[in-house]
Amino acid sequence: MHIQSLSIENFRNLQPTRLHFSPQLNIIYGNNAAGKTSILESLYILGHGRSFRTSRHNKLVNHDHDSFTLFAELTAHGSGHKLGIQRFRNNDVHMRLNQEPLSKLSDLVSLAPVQVLAPEHYELLTKGSSGRRKMLDWGVFHVEHSFLKRWQDCQRLILQRNKLLKTSKSYRELAVWDSQLVPLSIKVNQYREDYCQLLQPFFNSIIKSFLPDVDVSLHFYQGWQGHDLEQLLIEQYPKDAKHGYTHSTIQKADLKIMSGKRLAADYLSRGQQKLVTTALKLAQLSLAQERGQQYPVFLLDDIGAELDQEHQQMLLDFLAQQPSSQQIFITCVHLDPLKSLINRYNNVRLFHVEHGAVTVIDTASEKNVQ
Ligand SMILES: Nc1ncnc2c1ncn2[C@@H]1O[C@H](COP(=O)(O)OP(=O)(O)OP(=O)(O)O)[C@@H](O)[C@H]1O
Ligand SMILES: [Mg+2]
Repeated sequence: MHIQSLSIENFRNLQPTRLHFSPQLNIIYGNNAAGKTSILESLYILGHGRSFRTSRHNKLVNHDHDSFTLFAELTAHGSGHKLGIQRFRNNDVHMRLNQEPLSKLSDLVSLAPVQVLAPEHYELLTKGSSGRRKMLDWGVFHVEHSFLKRWQDCQRLILQRNKLLKTSKSYRELAVWDSQLVPLSIKVNQYREDYCQLLQPFFNSIIKSFLPDVDVSLHFYQGWQGHDLEQLLIEQYPKDAKHGYTHSTIQKADLKIMSGKRLAADYLSRGQQKLVTTALKLAQLSLAQERGQQYPVFLLDDIGAELDQEHQQMLLDFLAQQPSSQQIFITCVHLDPLKSLINRYNNVRLFHVEHGAVTVIDTASEKNVQ
């Protein structure tokens, strides 16, 4: 899919604007605190309904207003769509797709796949499993849409089971729930495991080019490794009932990233860990291009940050080889390192951001610079 235009109103520090994008490469540059990441954040919301920087929607609304509004024209599944999102400080949200109210966030997510790599994600390996699970599940969903319904059903059953645990007197009261929960949980994790297997060759080839001398591998951990889930739920009943909470669920699954026999998070340098995260995101993009129903829009925040020159160049080379219908948005403080990438694309749009005001820059003046 690609985003043709976006109107932004009362979002963070951005002045009201309407931006027309290139279907290929878009570069947003400007000084610190200009509003570059805020633009990427608004694009991300089109595909996720939420930010990648915060779960608190009221932080996104400009200080002087009560709601923000985004209105996008995009092409998805081969046809044009108009998508509007208004989010209020009190968390209310109004979404419209092609003039019709849109009530389910999942409809938004399946319409508009948007993927992001931002400095926030460089902690992916060291932080808890939930970030890795979210990343994994986003990928699974865009390759296999039926995953979402099963995942939601599973979540609902876990909530009901937890509620029942608080009042139950014996495991027998839970058996009927578990007869539904167990096969569904196994199915959800099977999707995840299959996705990991599909992802592995893409990841292996990218990480080999980034870190040729380091052994890094991906492993899916299902959350009840080495056990039969049905049996485990019976055995863990006393513990589950004591805490009013199911200990072994799909919410314990993880994508384990190993370097040899050690966890990559405990062994690799910070820079190496950033490259592993970058390789994971790029592998997901490549896999979605090959197997997904449409190309995700790819957002890259602060390309200059945290990678050395050699590895930044590797990332730029990877981006320069993307298919022509892949839409990319990159933010940076300095344009110079991106000149070679700009010269390799036919259709580039440059946006300069200054104190929340966005100006389109004539690419001819920025192209063909040595
Ligand atoms: N709700 C809000 N209302 C008004 N301004 C806000 C709001 N939230 C954040 N800001 C301000 O918006 C500015 C732009 O932030 P943003 O993160 O987009 O900058 P940036 O260009 O990505 O900077 P950097 O290069 O440092 O990453 C910051 O000064 C921030 O304090
Ligand atoms: Mg930023």
